Amino acid sequence: MKLKTIAEALIDEASSVAQLRAALNAFSQLCSDVGGVVPNPSFSAWADDSLLKDGVAISPEAAAHCVNDSQRTVVFIRAAYAAITAAKQRFANGPIEVLYAGCGPFATLLLPLLANFRPGELVVHLLDIHQRSLDSVALLIRHFDLEGHRISYVKDDACHYQHSSNPHVIIAETMQKSLEQEPQFAVTANLAPQLHARGIFIPQKIEVSLCLAKLEAERAAVQRGDALDPNALEATGERHALATVLCLTPEHAVTLRQQALQNSHGSLELNPIHVTLPAITNLNTFDAVLFTRIQAFEQHRLLDYESEITLPLRCNEFTPLKAGEQYRVGLQIGSYPKFSVTRVRDS
Ligand SMILES: C[S@@+](CC[C@H](N)C(=O)[O-])C[C@H]1O[C@@H](n2cnc3c(N)ncnc32)[C@H](O)[C@@H]1O
Repeated sequence: MKLKTIAEALIDEASSVAQLRAALNAFSQLCSDVGGVVPNPSFSAWADDSLLKDGVAISPEAAAHCVNDSQRTVVFIRAAYAAITAAKQRFANGPIEVLYAGCGPFATLLLPLLANFRPGELVVHLLDIHQRSLDSVALLIRHFDLEGHRISYVKDDACHYQHSSNPHVIIAETMQKSLEQEPQFAVTANLAPQLHARGIFIPQKIEVSLCLAKLEAERAAVQRGDALDPNALEATGERHALATVLCLTPEHAVTLRQQALQNSHGSLELNPIHVTLPAITNLNTFDAVLFTRIQAFEQHRLLDYESEITLPLRCNEFTPLKAGEQYRVGLQIGSYPKFSVTRVRDS
């Protein structure tokens, strides 16, 4: 399959799941043949992860493997295409400057789209902490005959990198579910203020909410292929939303960081929320769960269970669930970001 055919299949809203999978498989195979990085899930490739001050930058092999998270990849590629198209209208004098942070070895969220733009329309900066990833992308750009585009390669830490201008579009997907482990928050807080005033940051919003849910039943329903509608689950009492524990938008990331408080473990915690467990029938049949929802750009969204990065995360810290108990919940930032849950004891 040619890159242009792959891109067409990925952008076309009418493509079937099978067609999308075939296009992603073809892309991944082409990229690993040419760039030399073979996708590998993180559990066997983690030795090459970089443990940064603000989170883990996964290895080139693990980053390559992200392409297989199909719905994630398709939604972000469509979001990137829509955002660059919108930016072309907003900044009609062109060219559109795109900064892609954490591009990985395949520059998956942008590379398939490049052939859809004329040389000169875009100025692209590809940023990653891993030189091997940048070397791989450079080979791909040459192989796919995309060298007519103005492309620069930057090896740096996106949590601290200062760009020389204000890009019109910034793309950054350095996250796992519930913003755990990888530095998405720190990358957003560093890069969002560098965006052009009318620019577009992808993703536009990441929301993490705490719910009481029947996780095993929900997972079984997803396995069967049933559609899970959170509103319907709430209406029938199968789920109870307790609180939005984080709403990360590029506009508010810096304020969130400025207002971070030190928690009892001596780590910085963002905007901790106090939650009281409600008195509901059969409380102990529920799990306390974090759900992640992502708005990549406008209608291009990822909801519960739709991708690896929006899978639910059970919070065992609430077990056993007792009505009336109070907890403090907040994203702990630092070298291993994760939600911290602390029981608030009566004084
Ligand atoms: C989850 S992978 C995503 C790869 C690719 N963008 C995709 O969406 O398929 C995250 C990538 O971001 C890079 N990364 C993570 N944190 C980084 C940081 N602070 N600075 C630069 N690169 C980073 C990793 O090296 C890895 O290539």
